[in-house]
Amino acid sequence: WPHVLAHLGRFGILLFTLQFTTEKSQMCPSGWQQLVGSCYSFSDERDNWEKANQTCLLKDSHLIVINSEEEQQEYFFKHVNKDYWLGLTDLSQEGQFEWVDGTPYNAAITTWGYGQPDNTDNLEHCVHISALMEYYWNDHQCTVLMHWICER
Ligand SMILES: *[C@@H]1O[C@H](CO)[C@@H](O)[C@H](O)[C@H]1NC(C)=O
Repeated sequence: WPHVLAHLGRFGILLFTLQFTTEKSQMCPSGWQQLVGSCYSFSDERDNWEKANQTCLLKDSHLIVINSEEEQQEYFFKHVNKDYWLGLTDLSQEGQFEWVDGTPYNAAITTWGYGQPDNTDNLEHCVHISALMEYYWNDHQCTVLMHWICER
C-alpha cells in the first residue's frame, strides 16, 4: 500500500502541474473564457448598445468582433442561448457596417439572418445575434436592452 500511495502522490503532482500549465497558457483573466484565440466575457446584465460598448472598453476589451466562420460557429451555434450585442454597427453611415475594433467589414464572412439587415423603420443600426433567428445576425434599435459579449 505505501508503495501504491507513493505512486498516486506523484501522479497527483503531475496532474496538478498539467492543470497549472494549461491555465497559464490560456492567459485569460479570471471570469473570461478562452475560445478561438481570444478571451470572452458574457454579461449577466442587459444594456443598450452604447453602454455595452463602453463597458467593454472600461474592461480593456471591445464588443465581440467575429473574424471567421469558426468564431461564429464555435460561439453562437454551440454555446449561447439568448440574444447578444455584437461590436458591429452602421451608426456612422446607413448600410456601411463597421466593426468596433477597426477590422474591415467583410461581407463574405457575415452570417445575417434571412432578409437581414433590413433597417426596419430606418431605426436599426446595431447588430446582435438573434436567438429567434437561430443565432444568425439581425440589425436592431441600439436603445434595446440586451446581453453582450466583450472580447480581448
Ligand atoms: C465603441 O467602442 C469603440 C472601442 O471599442 C470605440 O472606438 C467607439 O467609438 C465606440 N462607439 C460608439 C458609437 O460609442
